[in-house]
Amino acid sequence: MRDSLILGIETSCDETAAAVVARAPDGTGRIVSDVVLSQIAEHSAYGGVVPEIAARAHVDALDGLVKAALAQAGVTLGDVDAVAATAGPGLIGGLLVGLMTGKAIARAAGKPLYAINHLEGHALTARLTDGLAFPYLMLLVSGGHTQLVLVKGVGDYERWGTTIDDALGEAFDKTAKLLGLPYPGGPAVEAAALTGDADRFAFPRPLVGEARLDFSFSGLKTAVRQAAQAIAPLSDQDVADICASFQKAITRTLKDRIGRGLARYRQLSQGAPALVVAGGVAANKAIRQMLQGLCTEHGVRFVAPPMSLCTDNAAMIAWAGAERLALDLAPDPLSASPRSRWP
Ligand code: KG4
Ligand code: ZN
Repeated sequence: MRDSLILGIETSCDETAAAVVARAPDGTGRIVSDVVLSQIAEHSAYGGVVPEIAARAHVDALDGLVKAALAQAGVTLGDVDAVAATAGPGLIGGLLVGLMTGKAIARAAGKPLYAINHLEGHALTARLTDGLAFPYLMLLVSGGHTQLVLVKGVGDYERWGTTIDDALGEAFDKTAKLLGLPYPGGPAVEAAALTGDADRFAFPRPLVGEARLDFSFSGLKTAVRQAAQAIAPLSDQDVADICASFQKAITRTLKDRIGRGLARYRQLSQGAPALVVAGGVAANKAIRQMLQGLCTEHGVRFVAPPMSLCTDNAAMIAWAGAERLALDLAPDPLSASPRSRWP
């Protein structure tokens, strides 16, 4: 038996991406090609992603990226076993562009189509990069999502916690915006925090101590706004102190929530327990360090895929398709619709 080859397409937010992934009969995966075009430059003037601009940019870029992914892999559409495209959740305009393109290619080349849930892509990435066995715990922290999920199998997920208001990346982005820092806010806040006093402001730590595993960040953002207004105009040192205090509040909150999650997970998991982190916020060193320490404390392996695979990419979508193909799961019909919301 030879390796299967899957073409993946991702257009759910502000990254246009295409990739080819191979899956060997023994279940190991390999990224054959992976191209991503970020639209950050197009959106930065607006301090966030503008859906209309994103959709148009996907239309302009996707054809070329698919060709580039195939060329870099040294294969043609005829060599590919299946096409996988993100069908949701995300911005509907971008999803339409990606899914329609995936359908057109699948139809023209006579290949099966898999309409992939973007979150499933994030959830299964660690099996591609680290060959993880089920079940493992995943923390997804991005601009659009904050979820703690027990990954039990392909298509078998148990959501243990989610945000009841803002996503974690969104909290970083909004905090940066109100402090006059550039978009995307996460890297800017982290950099400013390096020279700040994390104990100057006592920001709230939402839901800390509660038994349920949800997250909440909007109150924190409000507290940052009030603190900034109270001492305006802000000096560079004030901004650094606010960023450091904000990041400390976030880290402590996550530590409480994830610590509880790990304790619950340890009670049920046999085999080799692991926590996987995914999403753009996984780039944050303070958060990574805290998670690493927490995992050591609970006797759980900490897995952080390379950043290019933590943020949005098409290799994870192709891999989710590869896992479905390997299990002989039914492909999706060409009538499959994009879903902006899809838990
Ligand atoms: O996964 P991602 O690239 O895109 C989606 O949200 O789909 O995540 C982007 C988010 C942004 O909110 C950005 O501010 C945040 O990840 N982020 C960070 C850092 N780098 C990116 N947040 C905190 N610290 C960072 N170093
Ligand atoms: Zn994502």
